[in-house]
Parts: sequence; structure tokens; C-alpha cells
Amino acid sequence: MILSMNVAHKIFCIILAGGKGSRLNPQIPKQFLKIDDKSILELSILEFYHSNHISKIQLVINPSFVTNTKEQISKYGLLEPVTGGKTRQESVLNGLKAICKYKPDYVLIHDAARPFIDCLTIQKIVDSLKKNDAVVPAVKLVDSLKYCEDNIVIKSVARDSLYQIQTPQAFKFDKIYKYHLQTKDNNFTDDASIFENFGEQVKIIEGSINNFKITTNEDLQRAKDFMLTKQSKIRTGIGYDVHKFCNAKLPQDNFIKLCGVKVPSARSLEGHSDADVGIHAIVDAILGSLAMGDIGDHFPPSDDSFKDVDSAIFLEFCKQELSKKSSQINNIDVTIICEKPKISSYKNLMKKKIAQILDISDDLVNIKATTTEKLGFTGRGEGIACQAIATIEPI
Ligand code: CTP
Ligand code: MG
Repeated sequence: MILSMNVAHKIFCIILAGGKGSRLNPQIPKQFLKIDDKSILELSILEFYHSNHISKIQLVINPSFVTNTKEQISKYGLLEPVTGGKTRQESVLNGLKAICKYKPDYVLIHDAARPFIDCLTIQKIVDSLKKNDAVVPAVKLVDSLKYCEDNIVIKSVARDSLYQIQTPQAFKFDKIYKYHLQTKDNNFTDDASIFENFGEQVKIIEGSINNFKITTNEDLQRAKDFMLTKQSKIRTGIGYDVHKFCNAKLPQDNFIKLCGVKVPSARSLEGHSDADVGIHAIVDAILGSLAMGDIGDHFPPSDDSFKDVDSAIFLEFCKQELSKKSSQINNIDVTIICEKPKISSYKNLMKKKIAQILDISDDLVNIKATTTEKLGFTGRGEGIACQAIATIEPI
């Protein structure tokens, strides 16, 4: 299933869940353990599932836990999972072989043991693939480093050029597939090492310290604590806007803009910009969730540069502010209130348009419409009102 059509290249994602998790729990592989209401595996899938950049997701699963895995992932509509091998490297190769037939341009290879991958890191990786054939997220080491033997420091090691490398690791598909096929040594613990081994350059981008790998019990506890902190930082904003109907100035003004979509209408909406009452309410909801005032604070009607502009620019501003504040949309819900025009056949287009502008998955956006039973100013057809609510969470 193509999750989104908003992709220039075919970028696939392989998620590795073929391991045993023996260092954490000898009974059940760590990917099936739950953090709050979701398994580590589901959490690892979600961010890719919601990404507009990823075309398809291939899961590599442990052959002894096929039924468990399939039950957990059925709702995400992923490619048919394949089973893993004895080592991580063999599991990756099985995944690469499985997606080869789709001729992807790029592949992101991710450990299911990293449930807190975020959309910003995915975005940075995808951007960097425009110029590089291999991109990996990395975090700088902060502690001092010592080389030790038998618990005795032999020497100190300069940390300035040392990084911890995470997943997802992204590659030009043809190259990484070829190199994996040609690599007989089974000791590589990540895919960038294989790429480097063929003399190729690997670019690093800034990863996130929250994208840590769960290996031990301490990591699992850290993951549970992190989830609680994340949930306690969920924020909400509310938005409301009204625009008044007026007579169309020109015969070609036979539509109004609502949530970025042109909807046929004999009458126009008055406004300084394109009068998109839907986008304006959503912008106010997002600004509210960020405690950043309202749309007029950032785009004053007194400023002529915003005259007749496409309101999408206001939403793009919100997208940038969310990213600056390391936050992401959890969901947006909108109610358009008017007697005319009828909205129902445009709701899906609006949902897609809002998601596209904000670069989020369609299923994070919901559009509703209602009349007011001919009561009040909307009922008399004097204007359109719109309410929106936005929930955001830290990345
Ligand atoms: N992995 C895999 N196939 C293997 C081994 C590991 O797909 N044969 C996956 C794991 O499921 C994990 C990732 O590779 O998502 C990183 O491996 P690691 O953290 O070592 O996980 P496990 O091998 O499952 O854990 P352990 O080494 O403690 O047994
Ligand atoms: Mg392992």
C-alpha cells in the first residue's frame, strides 16, 4: 500500500524486529514489551507510518514469533513481513531482498529497538539524501572517554571526533543491496559499516538523544520514564474564525478557499488574505498550542504584504515554529459552520491539503462540517465560521 503520494522518490523503510532481545528478557523479545499501551515494535513503526516521505514499510520478524507480530501490526497495512536471520546483518539482507522487486530509490533501515525515532530526524535524513548516498543520524559523545584493560585506565581518548551512530540509516537502494550481497563477513553491527567497507562516504546528520536503543532493563525503564514525560507535555490549542460573505468582484471569483481547497461558491468571502477561514482557525489553534498569540500578531492585516496571499503560508509558518520548538502535531480537528456551500464532498480533499502543507500524515487531520439549522449569522448565510483544535507533543 502506498501510504502517501506525496513522495518524489520511492523511499522504503525496513524495520528490524528479528532479534531475540536476550540481554533484556530471555522469555519474550523486547520488541513485544509494552511502554504504556503500545509495544516497542508498534512505537517504532508509527513515525514511519505517519511520515509523508515513506512509501512502504517492510518488517523483518523473528521466525518464532510470526503470529504475535502479525497480530500487532495488522492495522498498519505494511508489506507482508519476512523472517530474519541469525544475525542483524542477515535480517537486513532478507529485508532488502524482499523489497528489491519494488525497485526503491532509497531505503531507511531502522532497529525496532528504537521506539522514539521522531519525524524531524526522518525529515533531516530524507533532505540529506538529496546530496548523499548514505546518511546516518549521530549524536556527539559528551562523557570523557578512557581506554581500559582489567578495570585500569590505559589511556584517555579524545572525544572531539567521536559520535554515537543510531538508526534509521539511509542508503541509495541499489548500492546498499549490492554491498550487502557481496559481504560474506557476518560481524557488521550496522549497515553504514558495510557501506564504508566498500570505500563509500557516509554522511552524518544530527540525531536525537531520545532515539536511544533499548538493550537492557535500565533502557526499558528510561523508555517508560520518557513516555510519561512526553505524555505530560502534550499541549492543546483552540482556534475560531469568521469571514463575511460579499458579492463576487469578478465573474471568475466563483469559488471560495476553505482549508486550502477551492470550493465553488456564487459569493466571495471578505478578507485581507484569501479569506480561508478554515486555515485561519487551524493556524490559531496551532499558535494557541505553542502559546504564541494569534494569527494577527504574526500577520497583521495592516501589513499590505499579506494582501490576497494564499493562507497556506500561515500554516507553513506554524510548521516551522513547531519544528523550532521540537514539537509535532498529534492531531487536528476542524468544524466548518455554514449552510452553503455544501462541504461534504470536499472534506477529504481538505484533509489531504492540510496534511500536505504541514507535512504530516492524512490521518492526523479531521474535517467536519455542520449547519446551524438556519439559526444565527451562519444560518442566514451571512458568513462562514470555523472552529479548530490542535494537539501537539514534544518530539
Ligand atoms: N535484529 C534482527 N535480527 C537479528 C538480530 C537483531 O532483526 N538476528 C534486530 C533486533 O530486533 C533489533 C535490532 O536488530 O531491533 C538491533 O539489535 P539488538 O539491539 O542487538 O537486538 P536483539 O538482537 O534482539 O537483542 P540482544 O542482542 O540483546 O539479543
Ligand atoms: Mg543483538
